[in-house]
Amino acid sequence: MRYFFAFLLGLALLSLTVFGIAGRRGTDFRKPPLEIFDDMVRQDKLRPQVPNAFFNDGRSSQPHVAGTIAQRIGNVNNDTWQASAKNTGIKPGSTNWVETIPVPVTTALLARGRERYNISCLPCHGASADGNGITKKIGAMAVVANLHDQRIAKLPDGELFQVISQGRNLMQGYGANIDVNDRWAIVAYLRALQRARLATLEEVPAADRASLK
Ligand code: HEC
Repeated sequence: MRYFFAFLLGLALLSLTVFGIAGRRGTDFRKPPLEIFDDMVRQDKLRPQVPNAFFNDGRSSQPHVAGTIAQRIGNVNNDTWQASAKNTGIKPGSTNWVETIPVPVTTALLARGRERYNISCLPCHGASADGNGITKKIGAMAVVANLHDQRIAKLPDGELFQVISQGRNLMQGYGANIDVNDRWAIVAYLRALQRARLATLEEVPAADRASLK
């Protein structure tokens, strides 16, 4: 019992000492308080709508870059943004996917697609898109879709765009990392990979068939 009271007394003294020196949050001091952890109360950031000397116009909040279109305002889709199949992969005014890539498919676009695919998709789907990327080898992901799968090969271009943008099932979306043009470039390159694997002999011009056998 004696020890218990000694402990309580000790605890009370300790609390008094701590409070006496450190004070409570919100206590006013004459001198700036000693801050061991600053609790993120003060941060080196610009608060909105306050004057700031960093920018020439003296404002902390900068106007949007000319031509900026809001994708969404709150929960409501923006009509200007939605009206373009290029932004959504969906035919405007419908719920149907666009069947084919809505931007001109050029050699430059394919080259860009290859580069972007190799950065963003290859680690999981593999260089040839068969689903055997490094993440499978090291055991980080057990099942990665084989993009030569009949079902996936038959998806409309707009739906592939959507999968890249928003993700699907276990795959996360890459819309935040890959801009709209690059997503179409990747779709174009993916189509080229699928063609290289899935095309039939009948699709080769008759004159060239013999050289393939
Ligand atoms: C971190 C690993 C990872 C990355 C990176 C990744 N994917 Fe996937 N992807 C997956 C997995 C896992 C699935 C299977 C998802 C499921 O069905 O659960 C998948 C599925 C898919 C599908 C099939 C969707 C369907 O309808 O079944 C497509 C198409 C696809 N990915 C394309 C891409 C493209 C293009 C990229 C690059 C922009 C990419 N993925 C990047 C892991 C990844």
